[in-house]
Amino acid sequence: AGIAKFTQKMPLPPVLAPYFSTSSTSYYRMTLKEATKEIVPGLRTPLRTFNGSFPGPVIKAESHRRVVIKQTNNLAVPTSIHLHGAHVPQDSDGSPMDLIPAGGGTKTYTYPNTQPHANLWFHDHAHHMESENVFRGMTGTYILTDDVERRLGLPSGQYDVPVSLRDARFLENGELVYAMGDFKKRNVVLANGKAWPYFEVASRKYRFRLTNTSNQRFFDLSLADDSELVQIGTDGGLLPAPYRTNVVKISPGERADVVIDFSRYPVGTVIELRNKDIAPFESADVVGKVLQFRVTRTAPDRSVVPEQLRTLPPLGAATVNREFDMRMDEAPGGSAYINGKTYDMDRIDTEIAYGATEIWTVRNSNKIAPHNFHMHLVQFRVLERNGQPVTSGPETGLKDTVPLKPGETVKLQATFTGYRGTYVYHCHLFDHGAMGMMANMRIS
Ligand code: C2O
Ligand code: CU
Repeated sequence: AGIAKFTQKMPLPPVLAPYFSTSSTSYYRMTLKEATKEIVPGLRTPLRTFNGSFPGPVIKAESHRRVVIKQTNNLAVPTSIHLHGAHVPQDSDGSPMDLIPAGGGTKTYTYPNTQPHANLWFHDHAHHMESENVFRGMTGTYILTDDVERRLGLPSGQYDVPVSLRDARFLENGELVYAMGDFKKRNVVLANGKAWPYFEVASRKYRFRLTNTSNQRFFDLSLADDSELVQIGTDGGLLPAPYRTNVVKISPGERADVVIDFSRYPVGTVIELRNKDIAPFESADVVGKVLQFRVTRTAPDRSVVPEQLRTLPPLGAATVNREFDMRMDEAPGGSAYINGKTYDMDRIDTEIAYGATEIWTVRNSNKIAPHNFHMHLVQFRVLERNGQPVTSGPETGLKDTVPLKPGETVKLQATFTGYRGTYVYHCHLFDHGAMGMMANMRIS
């Protein structure tokens, strides 16, 4: 693509204000509507948006304070809004069949926020529509905070920056091209809704809350000089301790909370954030580029990254073991399966006793296709990857989505409490979910 890189500023998504608040609850309204944005310099791209913004707005929530959102769907397609990573009652989960009708339908979602701080996000989940709806813009950020997180003294205010990363494919006229299975042609990388933007920073510490909102693309992120990234959090909030690395990996749906200390760069430095997960048919000059940081000034910095960030809840003893096999037909036009079955909204695949702690062993049986595994309702722990105990790195945190490269196996542990009802688990590569790699669990 002949798209100029690093000529547009990376915008920050707008923070949505509640229209009404009580001592216990904040009330919001959002409208799903079509809007046109400049993503590629000089071109107009029609999108499906929350409130006309792309990516959608940021909701700032607090643990133990309820959020109620009324969604009005003025799109021409039905939607279902799922708050990814949230512990919510079934009727506010935004499940694939719980649709908001097109052309003015409404639904009010209640989020109790009875979980610790976490970087959540919301997106469309309407069955067989979510892949295209998300591709066309239906994502937003939901930052849940609590006292544990607040009192650490991490970079805050203008130095705490949400970033949604994804890929896309455009026609010459700026329209998005969506087709199932054409992920190999998605050759433009967007950060906060702009193709390859730049972001001006001061020479001090910044916190970046990264969400991978791609349909299929995995990102392995690193700075051009391979210098240190400090990963402080993952899907379900902060890690027990900072993890110092030079590559931060996020598969579709996953989040990474990362501190970068730009004080090591003199004012005037320009440094790229790159993606190292490049397929053989792709070019590092294209999908290997993400965004460019420009160190333009100095600024005082009293923020810290403490060596202890949080204490995770105890694991508890598991009483049930289950196995899940993820597999898709590698040939085009095929289906995708969990334990040999494609998704059927009327079938309960897994019956779970309320309150149970279970160990789920999940395997990707494909030889070429990567997958990942996402569960609604719970944050889980990753006990093992490929038979090895997970003792360090981002997978020691609370997770709701876990990557599975071809042939990989993970062992997960979750406790099913709080709400009874039917929830889905699925591959978060949206096309795979739409091809059937999704199933129902019922907690009762
Ligand atoms: Cu983010 Cu069921 O999905
Ligand atoms: Cu998959």
